Amino acid sequence: MPDDSAHPAAAARPQALAAGRPAKPLSGRVAVPGDKSISHRALMLGGLAVGRTEISGLLEGEDVLATAAALRAMGADIVRETDGRWIVHGVGLGGLAEPADVIDLGNSGTAARLLLGILATHPFTSFVTGDASLRSRPMGRVITPLSQFGAHFLSREGGRLPLAVTGAANPVPQTYRLPVPSAQVKSAVLLAGLNTPGETTLIEPQATRDHTERMLGHFGATIRVEPDAGGARHITIEGYPELTAAPIAVPGDPSSAAFPLVAALIVPGSDVTITGVGLNPTRAGLIASLKEMGADIALENQCIEGGEPVADLHVRAGMLKGADIPPERAPSMIDEYPVLAVAASHASGRTIMRGLAELRVKESDRLTAIATGLAACGVRVDVAGDDLIVEGTGKPPAGGARIATQLDHRIAMAFLVFGLGAKQPVAIDDARPIATSFPDFVPLMNRLGAQFTKEG
Ligand code: S3P
Repeated sequence: MPDDSAHPAAAARPQALAAGRPAKPLSGRVAVPGDKSISHRALMLGGLAVGRTEISGLLEGEDVLATAAALRAMGADIVRETDGRWIVHGVGLGGLAEPADVIDLGNSGTAARLLLGILATHPFTSFVTGDASLRSRPMGRVITPLSQFGAHFLSREGGRLPLAVTGAANPVPQTYRLPVPSAQVKSAVLLAGLNTPGETTLIEPQATRDHTERMLGHFGATIRVEPDAGGARHITIEGYPELTAAPIAVPGDPSSAAFPLVAALIVPGSDVTITGVGLNPTRAGLIASLKEMGADIALENQCIEGGEPVADLHVRAGMLKGADIPPERAPSMIDEYPVLAVAASHASGRTIMRGLAELRVKESDRLTAIATGLAACGVRVDVAGDDLIVEGTGKPPAGGARIATQLDHRIAMAFLVFGLGAKQPVAIDDARPIATSFPDFVPLMNRLGAQFTKEG
């Protein structure tokens, strides 16, 4: 029997979980939780606006709850009304107060980098930390541009958390060209520019997710996006806008939808619909890639909700073939490579995923975690420079391994999905990190017919 009681977030100790081939094809209609990126931004901009921001569909994962707690600690009034429905009474731009204690952002890189952007132009001192994964991730990529506004940082070696930041009392507007394609760095600079006089411009050579720009416009900020002759986007924010509270409807997270989506593709005979999934073009690279691999994915009931394109994804299982995924697509599917690699392992032929340097600085070194995990499951896999190469045989891969999830929710979910299509079950050593982004992953997958079982 599927184990619906296996709710990883509730466990105090590591929660091992295993996935094997289900007795029947996966089937049914499910809705995935709210988009993580949009949920963080809705709380942050709501916290900086004047008035009452009503949010529906907020992701209630640990990462987003860490953002809510941090904003509360700085004076914002944030209340959960019912499931996914939250009310924020903002303090007004520049109105945040010095937090009395260390801000602990848990596992969340987005919370850390975006909040550092806000803190960089609020003239008080904050201390920021996170879990072992977040404390190992590079913050220098935001410390460099935010210091130019006049903020002062004191961090561990290599720009790691914990760090102290003292925001600039007289911030200086910046023009900054992104050295890495990162929406987190872009957003940190734009959010710092909000409480800075004059215009701050962020130059983005490769488009990354644009939720910050969209939501700033939605809250009444003046923001311009101008392409240059070389194809880069120049994003300019005018300082000191009147940010006005505005309702936000958070669409389903395409990065969470990716897991039941690939599961439905690799379990023979499956027919699954995932409803209300956000399909912002800066996030839709996985669907394009899977379609190139021959996936049967139909977009139904397409509409615009809360300024974002949304659709139901109707997915039917079928044999996939290998594909060559170009590096310029990486920013639009950066969180989806673990599960794309799972799809590639069940496909026929070679899949090359190019230009994945950024995967090395995610919640874990995902390039290594994917390659080691797939090899342990009997897949022929290679890392060549920043490219990942997976050889599919067109037959179910062996499986039968136990995967170390290393505080990485997407590695955990990807390898559980792998197990659904493998010859032998696959176990993960700890399912608890899943609660950072997809608290109901296990019961939702079990409702579709997956059979995840607790171990130990
Ligand atoms: C995010 C941006 C991405 C992504 C992360 C969420 C965001 O990180 O990996 O899960 O909400 O801006 P980078 O911008 O650092 O690539």
